[in-house]
Amino acid sequence: MTYLNEIEKHIDQFPDMPPFCQNLIAYLNNPDADFKKIANMVKYDPGLTANILKFSNSYYFEAVHKVNSVHAALVRLGTKKVMELVLALSVSSRLLPCLPGYGFMAKDLLKHSIWTAVAAQELADILNMKQVDMIFTVGLMHDLGKLLLDPFIQMERLQFNKIFKNPKASFEQEERSILGLDHAQVGAMILERWQLSPEIVTAVRWHHEPDKADEYQELIYLIHLANMLALSEGIGTGNYGLQYIVSAQAIKILGLKKHHIEYAASRALDKMKEIEGILG
Ligand SMILES: [Fe+2]
Ligand SMILES: [Fe+2]
Repeated sequence: MTYLNEIEKHIDQFPDMPPFCQNLIAYLNNPDADFKKIANMVKYDPGLTANILKFSNSYYFEAVHKVNSVHAALVRLGTKKVMELVLALSVSSRLLPCLPGYGFMAKDLLKHSIWTAVAAQELADILNMKQVDMIFTVGLMHDLGKLLLDPFIQMERLQFNKIFKNPKASFEQEERSILGLDHAQVGAMILERWQLSPEIVTAVRWHHEPDKADEYQELIYLIHLANMLALSEGIGTGNYGLQYIVSAQAIKILGLKKHHIEYAASRALDKMKEIEGILG
C-alpha cells in the first residue's frame, strides 16, 4: 500500500502562486511584452521593485554601472530574467520551513535550491551554453516536491531509515516504492498545476534521472550536476542526500572537466550569498 491517493489530494490543495505573479508571468511570456508596461505593472509592488533593482545591480549579473530605475533594470535583465526573478521571489518564501523527514533545518531547502540554481548557471556559462533558458528557475524549484512529501517521509521514517542502512536503489526509487511517487514527480505535478512552461516542468521531473528525458537534456543535465555539486559541498544533504546516483552520461555529454566543476563551485559560493540576501 502506498500513499498515492493522499499525495495527489495534497497536490490539488497545494497553494497557487499569488495572482499578481501569475498575471505578470503571463504577460512576460508574451513575445511582444514591452518594458514600459512591465514597469507599470511592477511599480504597485514596492518589494518587487526593490528586488528587481537589487538583482540587476548584483554581482550575479556582474553589473558594472548601477541602474536606479525599474525601466533601466528591465532593459538590463530582459524579460526572461525578470520572469525568473518573479518566479524566484514567489517561491523562495515557501522553501524556508524545516523538513524533519528529509532532515532539513529551517532554510536548508532554500540554501540547497539557491546553490543548485547558481551552480547550474555557472556551469552553463563556463561551457558557453548561453542558449539554455530557465536554469535559475529550475534550480530553485527542483526539490519543491520535498515540501509536500515531507510529512509522508516522517510517517515512514522507520522504513526509510532501514533502507538507508542498506540501499539497493536511489533515494527516489525508494520514495516511489514506499510512497507511490517521488519528489521529482510531485514537484513537476505542482508546477504543471501552476501552468509553468514545459521546460521547467520536464526538467524538475527528470532532475534525478536525466537520461530518461526526451527533451531539454542540456538543461536537465546541468541541474542534475549542479544538484550533485551542492550535495558534495554538504549543502542540503539532510538525512538521505548522499544516496545520489550521478549520471555518467551527464559529464560525458556536457564535456565537463574537473577544473570546470571546481571553478563553478568557487564562483557559486560568492554569488549564492548575494542571492540569498535577495531571496532569503
Ligand atoms: Fe531532488
Ligand atoms: Fe536537490
